[in-house]
Amino acid sequence: MEPARRGGSRAPVVFLGALLLALAAGASAWSHHGGLGAAGFATAGRAAAAGGERRYRDLALQRTESVRSSFAAAAAARRDLATASASSRVYHVTDYGADPTGATDSTAAINSAIADAFRSPSNATMTGGIPDLGGAEVHLDGGTYLIKAPLTLPASGGGNFRIHGGSLRASDDFPTDRYLIELSAKGSSRSFDYEYATLRDLLLDCNYRGGGLAVVNSLRVGVDNLYVVHFASDGVAVTGGHETIIRNSFFGQHMTAGKDPGERSFTGTGIHLDGNDNTVSDVVIFSAATGILVTRPANSISGVHCYNKATGWGGTGIYLKIPGLTQTLISNSYMDYTSIVAEDPVLLHVSGSFFLGDANVVLKAVNGVARGVQVVGNIFSGQDKGIDIVHLDGKFDTVDQVYVQQNSATGMTIKSTAARGTAVGNGSSWTVDFSPVLLFPDRIGHVQYSLVAGDEFPGHTLRNVSGNQVVVATDKPVSATVHVLVDQNSD
Ligand SMILES: *[C@@H]1O[C@H](CO)[C@@H](O)[C@H](O)[C@H]1NC(C)=O
Ligand SMILES: *[C@@H]1O[C@H](CO)[C@@H](O)[C@H](O)[C@H]1NC(C)=O
Ligand SMILES: *[C@@H]1O[C@H](CO)[C@@H](O)[C@H](O)[C@H]1NC(C)=O
Repeated sequence: MEPARRGGSRAPVVFLGALLLALAAGASAWSHHGGLGAAGFATAGRAAAAGGERRYRDLALQRTESVRSSFAAAAAARRDLATASASSRVYHVTDYGADPTGATDSTAAINSAIADAFRSPSNATMTGGIPDLGGAEVHLDGGTYLIKAPLTLPASGGGNFRIHGGSLRASDDFPTDRYLIELSAKGSSRSFDYEYATLRDLLLDCNYRGGGLAVVNSLRVGVDNLYVVHFASDGVAVTGGHETIIRNSFFGQHMTAGKDPGERSFTGTGIHLDGNDNTVSDVVIFSAATGILVTRPANSISGVHCYNKATGWGGTGIYLKIPGLTQTLISNSYMDYTSIVAEDPVLLHVSGSFFLGDANVVLKAVNGVARGVQVVGNIFSGQDKGIDIVHLDGKFDTVDQVYVQQNSATGMTIKSTAARGTAVGNGSSWTVDFSPVLLFPDRIGHVQYSLVAGDEFPGHTLRNVSGNQVVVATDKPVSATVHVLVDQNSD
């Protein structure tokens, strides 16, 4: 590690010491002087924090000045770094001349830091011969960097590294078809190029030019605590590879907290999963035409809050565009005026989720196949517009093992694949009409009924189930109650 950095790193220690003193003073004031002590504690804490902050700012300023004022010094620092890197594998982008104020372009500087981090410290390898970088870190030093081209990783591939701790902003001439950070080795013949890469604590501002992060043919990538804004295409796009985990992150084309007057014209996609075996958890998508677009199977989505663009204005919360091979789990999510759309769902599970503002689940027919679908145990809240909690868009001819059950709704129309009903009357025919509640038209796979006729003992039978109406008949007029259970599945 170069000397300048070691000097700089003392600042947090001084600051921490001051803070601890302040805390000690505050704690004793609290215990001895009650409410007054609390005020004293807050003031002392603030004073120490303000002092520390000033010191930190001064140091940061000095540091920036020294880096910017002398290219010779920067070059010397790089030479030091090259010799010191045998012991430290933390690459500070400001040591490479990156401008943490965001005033000047830092693309080349950050790409050099990345290239150095990719110099393999050993001959150790990971899956399929990916070089093991031993935990190397590219540290953004808490700065904001302007970049005019994507940050790219060496095509030689690499694993066990992280990029973290700062902000990146696309320049006004950043290419619109690229991403701020690209894990992509074009032309590589390996199955996977990057493994156990962590992208953490980053704000990516795409400046309405292209996307935030592209993860291509990578294995076990952690995307953690990102804030991705102003994307024109995707916030994060995962293509090929598997086991990317996107968690604790925020995606929005526009910085807004809802009720945005421009919501109707939001475009772009928060997260695009075009690979298998990925996980999205604890993520908020606060503006985009589509929250999460899934185009390959075997992904799991949980704890997601989508309020990206109301479905009433043409938006979609989660779009599963994998007709015939959905294999997707969605649980514990909050669809906030945004719907889930699944094309020809085959193996889809949606449970434990909250749908607000007439958001619903739309099954969209492509070849008319719905098989192995579970939409169970969700709650829906609507505005009495007669919107179905699960809506069929098109005609499904192949329906098998579709369970839409035990959902609860207010202000919306419950749809289900199983239902119960009762008919009371005096005569020889009883009809229970299940057509308002059953999801699929004219489909009853199983019926069970019981006829209660007091002292009478008529002969009776199930006469007709067409049009989702169950008709029970007796061989003589009686006064009876008929209870009926139906299921659209036959087994
Ligand atoms: C890596 O392998 C090469 C070739 O076998 C060898 O010369 C070199 O010493 C090895 N390096 C380390 C760090 O083990
Ligand atoms: C049922 O109808 C028959 C004739 O229509 C009538 O005689 C009988 O009282 C009715 N029973 C009841 C319980 O209403
Ligand atoms: C069942 O009801 C439908 C509609 O009323 C009718 O068209 C059909 O003929 C009935 N089937 C039988 C077996 O009675």
